[in-house]
Order: sequence, then structure tokens, then C-alpha cells
Amino acid sequence: MGKKIIVLGGDGFCGWPTALHLSMNGYDVIIVDNLSRRKIDLDLGTNSLTPISSMETRLKRWEKETGKAIKFYNFDVAKNYHRMFSLLKEEEPDAIVHFAEQRAAPYSMRDSVCKRYTVDNNLNATHNVLCAIEQSELDIHLVHLGTMGVYGYETTGLTIPEGYLPVQVKKSDKSVVEFDILYPPEPGSIYHMTKTQDALFFYFYNKNNGIRITDLHQGIVWGTSTEETKLHEELINRFDYDGDYGTVLNRFLMQSVIGHPLTVYGSGGQTRAFIHLQDTVRCIKIAIENPPKPGDKVDIFNQATETHTILDLAEKISDLTGIKVRYYNNPRAEALKNDLIVARDKFLALGLNPTTLSEGLLEEVKEITEKYKDRIIKDKIVTVSTWSAKRKVDTVGSDKPVLE
Ligand SMILES: NC(=O)c1ccc[n+]([C@@H]2O[C@H](COP(=O)([O-])OP(=O)(O)OC[C@H]3O[C@@H](n4cnc5c(N)ncnc54)[C@H](O)[C@@H]3O)[C@@H](O)[C@H]2O)c1
Repeated sequence: MGKKIIVLGGDGFCGWPTALHLSMNGYDVIIVDNLSRRKIDLDLGTNSLTPISSMETRLKRWEKETGKAIKFYNFDVAKNYHRMFSLLKEEEPDAIVHFAEQRAAPYSMRDSVCKRYTVDNNLNATHNVLCAIEQSELDIHLVHLGTMGVYGYETTGLTIPEGYLPVQVKKSDKSVVEFDILYPPEPGSIYHMTKTQDALFFYFYNKNNGIRITDLHQGIVWGTSTEETKLHEELINRFDYDGDYGTVLNRFLMQSVIGHPLTVYGSGGQTRAFIHLQDTVRCIKIAIENPPKPGDKVDIFNQATETHTILDLAEKISDLTGIKVRYYNNPRAEALKNDLIVARDKFLALGLNPTTLSEGLLEEVKEITEKYKDRIIKDKIVTVSTWSAKRKVDTVGSDKPVLE
């Protein structure tokens, strides 16, 4: 057996294909998940577009297809500290990949219950993992999934560096001191705020206890299948299309299949960074294979392969499918438009060969949406969560950009 990896949140959209990719590549994989994401679907009355199997069925099928076993533990990382700690002592993993957080910005902004849940869950999950690694006295490399959103989306004209900003400060004697600081956080939602606070936990435990940490600032993930999830229908990955959890490109593809107008918020001039799910799983394997050395500071990568404006994406899909773009009031408090230039040299230097948006891949996602379109609950498509009470939900939209 290869190195042992614990995947926290291994039942989720990124975690499940990552667990399979690592297992396929010879790692001994253990999944921890409290299945909270499945419970949130029930609470919201929504569903994954794809019919995901139970964890038990998934793992039996994986073993049947590949001969490889993955262990699964169902517990809450944010609440069950002692289970987390004892698992580390029992299994002595080489690395932990941490996906176990509430990850939807709109969900985190719904109401006070969702805000408080997101903060309690995400901050306690991250802190429990760090504290358990320290208490275990094991040398475990932590790989965390953060987000490009921690940098904010203001147009600065700068290329956003990989985590650290070199600064020069003039001292009182006029000499200049140079050092790197964490790029100033600019969270745009409660969810993003938890990710910026995670970064301080990482900074502290790395400095104080020497824990080796890689923080991956990931772009918006699109696609749904990877080489491994395609092996059998019981291995299918989740596909979120609803107004809270659906990510923009997957939502546009789903909307085009059922003839729903493409839901662009505001002007559509917001530029975002993207990555295909197949590259997500490759990047995580690369991060595990290239841990920071003892004594290194937190290693931060920008895990994104391309940037686009939301309107560019919508027009691309519209050209392919004939489905029209429709503009809706923006539920988010954000700039009408922004530029986004992102440094992403580190993964390229480590051998990532990026998958970019291509018609072939868009077709592949459309095939999945076409196959399961009868499962779509149509009244869950439009986002109802707004960033403040004065922003009104818009279920009708308009032909013209909304330039608030
Ligand atoms: N999906 C994206 O586009 C995207 C983009 C950037 C960053 N990320 C980051 O990647 C990570 C994974 O995202 P995802 O899309 O797979 O989300 P997801 O919601 O599909 O998966 C998260 C998984 O973690 C589990 N979980 C949550 N809290 C837990 C807890 N306290 N204990 C145990 N399990 C818990 C959930 O049940 C779920 O299976 C997140 O941290 C997210 O911030 C995702």
C-alpha cells in the first residue's frame, strides 16, 4: 500500500472524486464525512441532479471495479474532536485532505441560522483538525481546500499572487524593510469569511507547532465526472444545480438543457476563476506529492486554470444551444464588473496540464444533464438567498443588464 490519506468531506462534490483518484493511484484512502451535505438537500427540498448512491453502495462498487478498498467513518469533524484525534492515532495518516466545510456562499447568507452554522461548522472543523494533528504528535501534512474568493473581487490591476504579497515599508529612519504578508483578505460572504479565518489558523499552527500545511485557493469548479467516477453509474458524482449550491457554469449547462433562460446576475461583468473537476483531483494529488519541507511556511497555491466573465460564459453557452441570456437583480453585494489576473505558476511548474473550457467538455456535462433532466426541481433554480434584506429576489429577470 502507498501512503495513507484521510479525506475529510469525502462524500462531497470535490471530495468523492478526489478519494477515488487517490485510491486509483495507489494511496490507502480513508473517508470521513457526516453526510451533512445530503441532509442540507433534504432541508432545502432540493437534490443532486445526478442520482448519487449511498456511501455503502459507492464503496462496494469501487472495490468491485478496482479491487481497492476505501474505509469510511461517519462523524462530525467540527463537533467530535475525540473521534478525530483517536482516528489519527489509530491510522497514523501521512496526509489529510480537508474538504469538510459548508461551501456555498448563498447558503451562508440565507439567514441567521445558516450564518451561524457556517461559522460554527467551518471554523471548528478546521481548528479541530489542526489541534488533533498537534496533539497526535504525528508529522501529518494538511492539504486544505480554500477559495480564490479570499482575495476578493476588486479591480486592483495587480496579478494576484499565490497567497503572499511582497510589501515594502519605509521605517522612520527612511530605510526600507521588505517582507511578505498574507494577501489582505476581502471576504464577500460569511462562507468566504470562514475561509479567510481558516488562513489565520493555518498561519498560527504552522508558526507555533511547525505543522506542514498546503492551502489551495481554488476557483469555481465545473464539470461533474472524472476518469474514476465514469467507471460505473453507482460511482457517479453529485451535481448541484440549485440557487444555493449550484456553481455557475454547471447551472448554465443545466438551464440550457431544459430551456430555462441563462440566469446572469447584474451586468454579468464579474470575472471569476475556473477549474474543471478533473484538474481539481489532479492538483490535490500533486499537492500531496509535493509537501512543504519541515520549517516551511504555509504553502499557498492558486488552484484555477482560466478566468472568464460570467457574461462571456453565458454567451458561449447561448451560442452553442440557442438558449437566451436573461439578467436578474444581483442578490450579492459585489462590484458590477471586475478584472481578475491570477498567478498560477506553481501547479504548472509541478506538471499540471490544464483542461480548459472546450466544446467537447461542455458537451460531456450536457450529456449528464440531458440524461437526468427529469430529476430537476424547477422552482429551486432561481436563487432566493440575498446578501441583505434590501436586495430583492428576482424570479422574472429582464432582457437588459441590471446596472444598479
Ligand atoms: N465546489 C467548488 O466550486 C469549490 C470552489 C472553491 C473551493 N471549494 C472548496 O472545496 C471544499 C469542498 O467543496 P465541495 O464542492 O466538494 O463541497 P460539498 O458540500 O459537496 O462537500 C463537502 C463535504 O464535507 C462534508 N462535511 C461538511 N462539514 C462536515 C463536518 N463538520 N464533518 C464531516 N463532514 C463534513 C459534507 O457532508 C460534504 O460531503 C470546500 O471546502 C469548498 O470551500 C469548492
